[in-house]
Amino acid sequence: MTNDERRATETTETTRTSPILSVDHVSKRFRIAAERYLTAVNDVSLTVSTGETLGIVGESGCGKSTLAKMIVGLERPDVGEILVNGRPVRGSAGRHRGEGGVQIVFQDPQGSLDPHFRVGASVGEPLLAAGLGRAEIQTRVAEALRMVELDADAARHYPHQFSGGQRQRIAIARALAARPELIVLDEPTSALDVSVQAGVLNILLDLQNRTGTSYLFISHDLSVVAHMSHRVAVIDRGSIVETAPAERIFSDPQHPYTKALVDAIPRI
Ligand SMILES: Nc1ncnc2c1ncn2[C@@H]1O[C@H](COP(=O)(O)OP(=O)(O)OP(=O)(O)O)[C@@H](O)[C@H]1O
Ligand SMILES: [Mg+2]
Repeated sequence: MTNDERRATETTETTRTSPILSVDHVSKRFRIAAERYLTAVNDVSLTVSTGETLGIVGESGCGKSTLAKMIVGLERPDVGEILVNGRPVRGSAGRHRGEGGVQIVFQDPQGSLDPHFRVGASVGEPLLAAGLGRAEIQTRVAEALRMVELDADAARHYPHQFSGGQRQRIAIARALAARPELIVLDEPTSALDVSVQAGVLNILLDLQNRTGTSYLFISHDLSVVAHMSHRVAVIDRGSIVETAPAERIFSDPQHPYTKALVDAIPRI
């Protein structure tokens, strides 16, 4: 079985369990001038099961990051409900930190790590916020760094001492340290060279096989999304236009917008 076939089989096995993430008729608009509003997310509903990766694909400005921020509680939906493992997401910024639940990895590894903090402090910070003791935090930080194939020694260094790919692995370690049930990956490799990108994506796939963590994997790149995901949701101007098993997106796209995305992939 190829990797993609195996992922497809896993989907049918996991969809029977209750969802880790449930997004129910969620909308969000922003006020952009006195009487002008922009609907960034429009009546979006989706679910993610245990151990499943749901891919989200769509072009720049279609609302992917706004959706991601609502799922981790950095933005509040105007209408609709978001449940993580059956519990409503708490509304205020930053409160997604802590034990379990949902963690997020952003596109920009530069911006997501405080340059003044040693890596160990950054990776352990959500655990400190959750009230864990020093020794436990140290053990968990070393474990998380090992999971992204970095030396435990990395904890003593500063972000600028690492490459872009290594920094993004540190950001993933920070998300992992809290042992989340769901990780929202918002363009996690878009800022990386193609070869470095492949390494980070493989680490994510391997981690999921070992830990059963669910992913919401967001990218504008349909090929990457299809490779990483069991199912793919296509977003156009704030709305999901199609959801399909990853292997069907290329062979049998239904919506005209999905067809356009498939046709836009360069063939070498
Ligand atoms: N805080 C905000 N205030 C006003 N408009 C916003 C705000 N955040 C996002 N938007 C607008 O909402 C729309 C969706 O933005 P969002 O960042 O969710 O898109 P995206 O799909 O993540 O794009 P990209 O692929 O470029 O990251 C855009 O038109 C953006 O300008
Ligand atoms: Mg974005």
